[in-house]
Amino acid sequence: MAVKLFEPYAIKNVDIKNRIVMSPMCMYSCGNKDGIVTDWHKTHYTSRAVGQVGLIILEATAVTPQGRISPYDLGIWSDKHVDGLTELVQMMKAYGSTAGIQLAHAGRKAELEGDIIAPSPIAFNEKSKTPKEMSKIDIQETIAAFKLAALRAKKADFDIIELHGAHGYLINEFLSPLSNQRNDEYGGNPENRYRFLKEIITSVKTVWDGPLFVRVSANDYHPEGLTPEDYVQFAKWMKEQGVDLIDVSSGAVVPARISVFPGYQVPFAQEIKEKAHIDTGAVGLITSGLHAEEILQNNRADLVFLARELLRDPYWPRKAARELGVQIDAPKQYESGWN
Ligand SMILES: Cc1cc2nc3c(=O)[nH]c(=O)nc-3n(C[C@H](O)[C@H](O)[C@H](O)COP(=O)(O)O)c2cc1C
Repeated sequence: MAVKLFEPYAIKNVDIKNRIVMSPMCMYSCGNKDGIVTDWHKTHYTSRAVGQVGLIILEATAVTPQGRISPYDLGIWSDKHVDGLTELVQMMKAYGSTAGIQLAHAGRKAELEGDIIAPSPIAFNEKSKTPKEMSKIDIQETIAAFKLAALRAKKADFDIIELHGAHGYLINEFLSPLSNQRNDEYGGNPENRYRFLKEIITSVKTVWDGPLFVRVSANDYHPEGLTPEDYVQFAKWMKEQGVDLIDVSSGAVVPARISVFPGYQVPFAQEIKEKAHIDTGAVGLITSGLHAEEILQNNRADLVFLARELLRDPYWPRKAARELGVQIDAPKQYESGWN
């Protein structure tokens, strides 16, 4: 049986050389608090390209300064960010990776000075600030910020955009009834709670015709919260809008106890894939080539996202290839010690 982990994955006009994705991970490394790419980002991401990761998705990158998780986040809220991002994209592509970026707004989870915003004025926990309820104008401005960010991502030559709709950040806060208690057309029933994401997707697609991923938290782990079944419906709507892949994570909308084990989120990716007929990515405690291969062979997901394992080992694809008994290309400088 052919090894699927190292089969290419074609999506729209983009060919990813294998099914291994570096999951977005905030580096909190913009020391000047200006959101501009630093040497750290260039070293960190390029190392994973040298390590033969198929697709690298840059960390949550803020579409407005107020949408940062911390002052040290990467930003894409202004044209001054484009040069650094362009250089980073060129470096990742030079070593054969496909370049993606996660566009994000932290909403009520922003840990910043000044006002923070959210669909409803409910703090995440007792230590967090109470956000300001977003007005219709705030909503329209934020949608426009996602669109401008997408345009800048295109200028910087990214291949793939992922919208961060997970982990209790702004888009997720609109989707979940636990954080969205609005009485207008952006709150209430599922169609209304989906409206903010729907309008972001529509708006982004006016400037971006490349592959579009959305990361979701497919389970709120709360009796009144959202379940994978709710996300099947959202995924069907996203598919209708032309979203190409759902990157399936879970949790963090409200504080909750979650039982985690290798592959604990994979069933959510499988359910969304099977019931909404859309490609998915699986993530969460996937650390071995055999496990990644099992997910793909059994059609549980189409791409495998790794986060912490790629922090520990930038050359994980090589290790996985050895485990699965295949040889993969090395950067030519490393050929003598690779296979
Ligand atoms: C340091 C760190 C930063 C993270 N930052 C992000 C982020 O910017 N966006 C996001 O969607 N998930 C983020 N995550 C979550 C990861 O992408 C991933 O979903 C999670 O760590 C589970 O995968 P793993 O078990 O392979 O680490 C982060 C995780 C870590 C460890």
